[in-house]
Amino acid sequence: MQNLPDVLAASATPKTLQDVLTVTTDTCIAISDALKQGSLAGILGMAGNENVQGEEQKKLDVISNDMLKEALVACPSVRAIASEEEDYIVPANTQGEYFIAFDPLDGSSNIDINAMVGTIFSIYRQTGDKPAVEEDFLIPGKEQVAAGYVLYGPSTMLVLTTGDGVNMFTYDPTKNVFTLTNQNVQVGKDTQEFAINMSNQRFWSTNMQNYVNDLVKGKEGIRDKNFNMRWVAAMVGDVHRILCRGGIFIYPWDNKDPSKAGKLRLMYEANPMAMLLEQAGGKAHTHTQRILDIQPEAIHQRVAVILGAANEVDKCLSY
Ligand code: F6P
Ligand code: MN
Repeated sequence: MQNLPDVLAASATPKTLQDVLTVTTDTCIAISDALKQGSLAGILGMAGNENVQGEEQKKLDVISNDMLKEALVACPSVRAIASEEEDYIVPANTQGEYFIAFDPLDGSSNIDINAMVGTIFSIYRQTGDKPAVEEDFLIPGKEQVAAGYVLYGPSTMLVLTTGDGVNMFTYDPTKNVFTLTNQNVQVGKDTQEFAINMSNQRFWSTNMQNYVNDLVKGKEGIRDKNFNMRWVAAMVGDVHRILCRGGIFIYPWDNKDPSKAGKLRLMYEANPMAMLLEQAGGKAHTHTQRILDIQPEAIHQRVAVILGAANEVDKCLSY
């Protein structure tokens, strides 16, 4: 069985990018260990609380962010990082070649119920002779050189693309490595499963309401087939299900706060997942355009997301 370092070495991945991926995935193994200890480690709870030693307790998303930040900033190949937990980019090595944007702990409200969470990352090649500034990294998702996530579920899994298909690796704790377990993952073009937070239905556009109403009508409606619904409440879990058995995931624009284009973040949620989906034969759009074509305006920008089985994404967009 092949392990992550062998797969990377056998691919066209430059050594410097392999280094960034190794640092990222090694840190995710450490995050996975911290998550497994849960309350035993005394690290669960709200940031701002004090533990019995009188030390300030940190939320696991803050801990995960600090672990990734520290490891990546120390990696010579990293030029800068951007994180959901950091207001601004964090410059690393001026000579570094890579910019990495990440969501250190996606779905972090699931921690309180011991359910699925994950780390999502997106990597760009970006060089320069001055310390990095935010504008350097406002690069469309189609320029990503690698993207993926580590899912902390019953097993810890790495799902990765370096632009040549999607591979899934399962963490083997006996060898302390990610082992290749699903090669060249493909998503079926059609599906009978959707994922959307139905409690927001009344806030969606009329077209989105019509589309979902037609799914719910099943065999009795114009779709003439029954649909199942799932919602993990962690994008990483919903996307993982789609990569494993198909489906469509939607976090649409809604009028709860019309100034927000959507809930999910372009640079460390939508873009990496869109690259994975496209590499697996699926599609990823907003209401109006391909996600990977969006010219970012800010690192924390939000977008609407419709991704998954190609024909079902087209069907949704036809509304
Ligand atoms: O990071 C945002 C996020 O937690 C996603 O992981 C998830 O898909 C979504 O928000 C869940 O949203 P809601 O709270 O509406 O279920
Ligand atoms: Mn998230």
